[in-house]
Amino acid sequence: MIALAKPVEHVPTGRLATLRRKAADCRDCPLWRHATQTVFGQGPARAPAMLIGEQPGAQEDLAGAPFVGPAGQLLDRAMAEAGLDRRALYLTNTVKHFKYELRGKARLHKRANAAEQAACRQWLAAELDRVQPRLVVGLGAMAAQTLFGNAFRISTQRGQWRDLASPVRGLATWHPSAVLRMPREERRHAAYLELVADLHQVALALAALARQTGATR
Ligand code: URA
Repeated sequence: MIALAKPVEHVPTGRLATLRRKAADCRDCPLWRHATQTVFGQGPARAPAMLIGEQPGAQEDLAGAPFVGPAGQLLDRAMAEAGLDRRALYLTNTVKHFKYELRGKARLHKRANAAEQAACRQWLAAELDRVQPRLVVGLGAMAAQTLFGNAFRISTQRGQWRDLASPVRGLATWHPSAVLRMPREERRHAAYLELVADLHQVALALAALARQTGATR
């Protein structure tokens, strides 16, 4: 079982469809009130790798699926360049509701606070228990710190494999939104290349796993 670095009081059980249904009715923090819907994870029930983002944005909130907006488009491009097939992966978020503040008619992203993250952790823990990925990728600080603890820093510790619960390994890398937000073009490009390089490590590890399972069949 993959233990998150941060505590989870109760881990819901059941198939992914059941968990998705239960999460749709979650009222354990106030975020459900203003969001359109719970954005649960997406991907094969036995995906060998799980990618974990932060929280849904405005477009994910409307679509009900993770990583479909601008950050998702950048992630898709990075995955393609890294040799990863999105359809083979399970993509989810640390927090399952869109949090925002209204500025006129615009819904501006707001980071979920510690209590909201804590209330939502049960769903990520349940997804990890159910999918049992061999490789786990945290995109950005929120996911990375949920996996590896609050001392984790993306800028200095990204791209390094860590044992989660042998044989499960995890690494963290840039969140695609963080890359998009970098003001200097040079830095943005460098971070994008780092994201691709880290995802390429995941592609290589997946290929090695496929060879192993092929060899033991
Ligand atoms: N950012 C995230 O962390 N997750 C999404 O699904 C979209 C944007």
